[in-house]
Amino acid sequence: MGHFLVVGILVIVMAVLTYVGLDAAGLMPVQASAQAVSIDWLWNWQIIAISFLFSLIVVPMVYSLVVFRRKKGETGDGQHIEGNTPLEIAWTVIPLFIVLAFAYMGAYSLGDTRRIDPNAMVVKVKAQQFVWTFEYPEYGIISKELHLPVNQQVLLKMESADVIHSFWVPEFRVKQDVVPGRVTEYRITPTLLGNYKVRCAELCGSSHAYMEGPVNVESQADYDAWISEQSAIAAEAAKTPEGQGQLLTVRNGCIGCHSIDGAKMTGPTWFGLYGSDVKLEDGTTVVADDAFISESILDPKAKEVAGFAPTVMPPYALSETEIENIIAYLKTLK
Ligand code: CUA
Repeated sequence: MGHFLVVGILVIVMAVLTYVGLDAAGLMPVQASAQAVSIDWLWNWQIIAISFLFSLIVVPMVYSLVVFRRKKGETGDGQHIEGNTPLEIAWTVIPLFIVLAFAYMGAYSLGDTRRIDPNAMVVKVKAQQFVWTFEYPEYGIISKELHLPVNQQVLLKMESADVIHSFWVPEFRVKQDVVPGRVTEYRITPTLLGNYKVRCAELCGSSHAYMEGPVNVESQADYDAWISEQSAIAAEAAKTPEGQGQLLTVRNGCIGCHSIDGAKMTGPTWFGLYGSDVKLEDGTTVVADDAFISESILDPKAKEVAGFAPTVMPPYALSETEIENIIAYLKTLK
């Protein structure tokens, strides 16, 4: 009986130390959404269970290794033990109730994170290789940044243009796949002001690791200011061809792969592109004129640019006017 008492105390001590250690390790980023509260609550109970089960296995094992070592000169077999009905019932029934309890807690937590606020604001999200774009349909705003007012539920209606992506802001905890051919929904109530990042959490191609976008949780006043600023920019841009062209490059996600300042990205930069000589993969050179740019949008594989083959860009079925506007915009990038 003495061994059981010692092992029992050691298991409890070890479980507490493991839990405190895991807790101090700071496994989670800050808690920035209402939904994170019930997820973290469930997570905490799981860490407690994990700490206890870890100790329950490791402590008796190490204890046995040390205390019941074969003594010098001991050559006989160990005591033969067969069956222990009360123990077997106990280790069946107790885990059964623990699993049921966690199933209940999981369902409760899931329900809590899905709670619907009928006044939630709607933002449309488009995911494509390898950029997130956010559309505020009420204001006609399209942005690479997601701005959210604090303490208000937002419903993201998410669509993918190509493959499966996954919307994940670790500080919000909730994660949701974005699947081509359907609209997936994601509800969140940000509760902590700050600048976060959405990351893509589903391997979606060569630049998956860089598929990030800023997520800014702001006070209502800052959010309103951003909305009116963006509305003004959009209204102003819509007046000129190059402005419309720029909006098109955001709307279509072009800027996910093409930089406008010469920075190296998945696709060739647009900085100084218009009118320049472009080296192709087959060794020839073409001038980046209207015809080349138009062809590269409608049929990107027709002329593969050296260093970017094989071309990963899909064809974009834009109208003639849209392409003219984009070309007008490209001419300004020098
Ligand atoms: Cu998109 Cu990974």
